[in-house]
Amino acid sequence: MSETVQLLIDGKTVELPVVTGSEGEKAIDIGRLRQLTGYITLDPGFANTGSCTSAITFMNGEQGVLRYRGIPVEQLAERSTFVETAYLLINGALPTKPQLVNWSQLLNRHSLVHEDMQIFYQNFPRHSHPMGILSAMVNALRSFYPTLPTSTAEEAINITVTRLISKVRTMAAMSYKISRGHRVVYPRPDLDYCANFLNMMFDNPVQPYTIDPRLVRALNVFWILHADHEQNCSTSAVRLVGSARVNLYASISAGVSALWGPLHGGANQAVIEMLRAIHEGGESMATVIARAKDPNDPFRLMGFGHRVYKTRDPRAKIMKQVCDELLEATQVNDPLLTIAVELEKWALEDEYFVSRDLYPNVDFYSGIVLRALGIPTNMFTVMFAIGRLPGWIAQWKEGADDPDWKLYRPRQIYTGPPVNEYVPIAEREPRE
Ligand code: CMC
Repeated sequence: MSETVQLLIDGKTVELPVVTGSEGEKAIDIGRLRQLTGYITLDPGFANTGSCTSAITFMNGEQGVLRYRGIPVEQLAERSTFVETAYLLINGALPTKPQLVNWSQLLNRHSLVHEDMQIFYQNFPRHSHPMGILSAMVNALRSFYPTLPTSTAEEAINITVTRLISKVRTMAAMSYKISRGHRVVYPRPDLDYCANFLNMMFDNPVQPYTIDPRLVRALNVFWILHADHEQNCSTSAVRLVGSARVNLYASISAGVSALWGPLHGGANQAVIEMLRAIHEGGESMATVIARAKDPNDPFRLMGFGHRVYKTRDPRAKIMKQVCDELLEATQVNDPLLTIAVELEKWALEDEYFVSRDLYPNVDFYSGIVLRALGIPTNMFTVMFAIGRLPGWIAQWKEGADDPDWKLYRPRQIYTGPPVNEYVPIAEREPRE
C-alpha cells in the first residue's frame, strides 16, 4: 500500500499521498488539498515546496552532493568535457563515440550567427550590461531562426537546442568584441567548443591567440560545474515561462534575466567587486566580517551561503582547486585570491557564519578563475549563463515531454483591503 500522511484540519482528518524520490527524499502531495479542505499552503521563496519531480539532477544540501543523471559532479569535472556533459543532461545518458562526434559536428555547423544580429549589438548603448543584451538577443533568435514548417515537433526542438548551445557562445564572444570596437572573430571548425570560445574572445589580427590546453580545461570544468542545479531561481523561471507553452528561446531568455540577479548568478561578479573593494579600500578582515554580520548594513558576504547547501558547496571545492592550478600554470599572482582565502578563513571561524551554516558557494572562487582566463568582470554572469544552458534546456524539455505539464499558477493569501466602493475623483478626500 502506498504511503500517506494524515492532516488534522478543522476537526477533519485528511489523508494525503507521499511521493518518495529515488534517493529516499519525501514529499507530501498536496495536489488535492484545496479541493478537500479549502486550504492552500503558504511557502514564500518556495523553500519547502517541490515544484516538480525530475530525473535530471540530484542535490543533497546537508551532505554537499551534486550529481547529473546520477553521475557525481566531481567525476564529470575530472573526466568529462562541457559538450559531453551537456549531452548527458539533455539526453539523459552519456553519448557513445559516434553520438558525441555527431553532437560536436552539429554544434560546429550551427555556430554561426545571422550577420544581421550584429546590427543589434552595434546599437545597444556601450555601457549596457551584457546580461541584458544576452537576454534580449536570445529572445531575438526566435525571429532569426523560426521553426521550419517541415520539421516534426521533436526535430524542431532538437535543432533549437543545438542552435542555442552553439550560438549563445558565439553571441557572447561577439558582444565582447563589439563592445571593444574590435572585429568579430568567427568560430573555427578545427577547434572544440571551449577552445573556440576563447579564440573568438581573444584572437585579433595583430595578436593571434595561442590556445593553451590548461585554460581550455579550466573553462570546461567551469562550465561543467555550472551546467545544472535542479530547481534554482533561473531554472524555475525557465520552467514557469515554458509552462505557458511559449517557445524555448523565450523561456531561456527569462532564465538569463533571473540569473542576472546578484543573489543568484550575478554573485560571481559581486564577489570580485567585493574583493577588489577590500583590496583597494584596505578594509580590515574584521571590519568586512562585522559589516556582513550587521543586520542594519545591507552588505552580505558575496559568494557565501546557499538556499540548499548547509555545508560546503561541492562545486566550490573543485573551483578552488581549478583556481589554484590555473594560477600556478599561468604564473599569475592574483592579490584577490589572497584576500579570498583569508576572508574564507575568518568567516569559517566566526560563530555567526558557523551557526547559520554559511559556507563558500561556487561563486566565491569562480571569479578568480574567470579573471585568470582573461574574462572581463561584467561578462562573468554571461559565462555562468552559457554553462547553465544545458540545464535550462534539459529542465524545459522534461516539462515539455511530460503529458501532465501544468501551467504554473501559484495562489496567494490576499492581505489587501476588503471590498471597496469606487469614489469619483471630485469626492475623494485629500491624502497626505
Ligand atoms: N552574508 C551574511 N549573512 C548571510 C549571508 C551572507 N552571504 N547569507 C545568508 N546570511 C544570513 C542572513 O542574513 C540570515 O541571517 P538571520 O537568520 O540572522 O536573519 C541567515 O543567514 C539566513 O539567510 P537567508 O537570506 O534567509 O537565506 P536564503 O536561503 O534566503 O539565502 C542566499 C541564500 C544565497 C540568497 C544568501 O546566502 C546570500 O545572499 N548569499 C550571498 C549571495 C550569493 O553568494 N549568491 C550565490 C548563490 S550560489 C550561486 C547560485 O547557485 O545561484
